[in-house]
Amino acid sequence: MNSLHGKVIAVTGAAKRIGRSIAIELARRGARIAVHYHHSRAEAVATAMECGGRTFRADLSRVDQICGLFAEIERRYGRLDGLVNNAAVFRAMDPLEATEEDWDSIHAVNLKGTFFCCQQAARLMRRTGGGQIVNISSLGGLRPWAKHVPYCVSKAGVVMLTKGLAKALAPDIAVNSIAPGVIHFGNEMPEDIAHLVRVTPMRRHGTGQEVAEAVRLLFEGPSFMTGQIVALDGGLSLK
Ligand SMILES: NC(=O)c1ccc[n+]([C@@H]2O[C@H](COP(=O)([O-])OP(=O)(O)OC[C@H]3O[C@@H](n4cnc5c(N)ncnc54)[C@H](OP(=O)(O)O)[C@@H]3O)[C@@H](O)[C@H]2O)c1
Repeated sequence: MNSLHGKVIAVTGAAKRIGRSIAIELARRGARIAVHYHHSRAEAVATAMECGGRTFRADLSRVDQICGLFAEIERRYGRLDGLVNNAAVFRAMDPLEATEEDWDSIHAVNLKGTFFCCQQAARLMRRTGGGQIVNISSLGGLRPWAKHVPYCVSKAGVVMLTKGLAKALAPDIAVNSIAPGVIHFGNEMPEDIAHLVRVTPMRRHGTGQEVAEAVRLLFEGPSFMTGQIVALDGGLSLK
């Protein structure tokens, strides 16, 4: 088993929900966590306190801010061993009503931002012997959801960039992805999402903690594994 003890791992969108669970789970295994956030400063500070990490702010739709984020991580830690690309934009919309702004804002974070975070992280990892990247994609990147077409397209892109970068960055950097199904946090559930839960073979939604455990397994697992998309969806992708 690969030990996470002392490793520096950046988690994007780590202030709340799934990202927060990932940061805390990896810290519990001994990793030092760079807690990235955009607007949720107070929650990011709380996550950082809980996991003994440090906070970093950046708008991931902007490549200049992504470069600044990783420069700051290098300045404060001197190295980077892992990256979890978790931040994303998820908005329901009728594709007939979607605007250029809707399309661009979703792709700027989910796809362009993920790519340039991988690029900047990989450059940093290479300087200290390599590392691991885990991209949080989505079941929506593997199967279409009618009310989330631009999101699904962006996550299908994350699936392909995971495979492409796994090939390009081997042998010293592994790139894998977790594709969650429905992960719920107690807020009201729209009917289309509630329907997905009803047809999930395990007959429930997943939790942030379960995504975090899957990410941790990828970090601690065999370093021979790269370019893989692991569905964490209660069997929904089997239907
Ligand atoms: N929840 C689910 O059921 C589900 C299912 C499948 C896949 N996923 C994927 O799992 C990941 C986490 O899901 P989630 O529901 O926990 O996510 P979320 O709460 O919708 O978003 C996570 C974080 O992304 C950050 N973010 C958004 N725009 C940003 C920008 N321009 N720059 C920097 N950060 C930005 C936000 O940070 P701030 O709050 O700091 O602004 C936000 O807290 C996402 O990749 C999502 O697509 C989730």
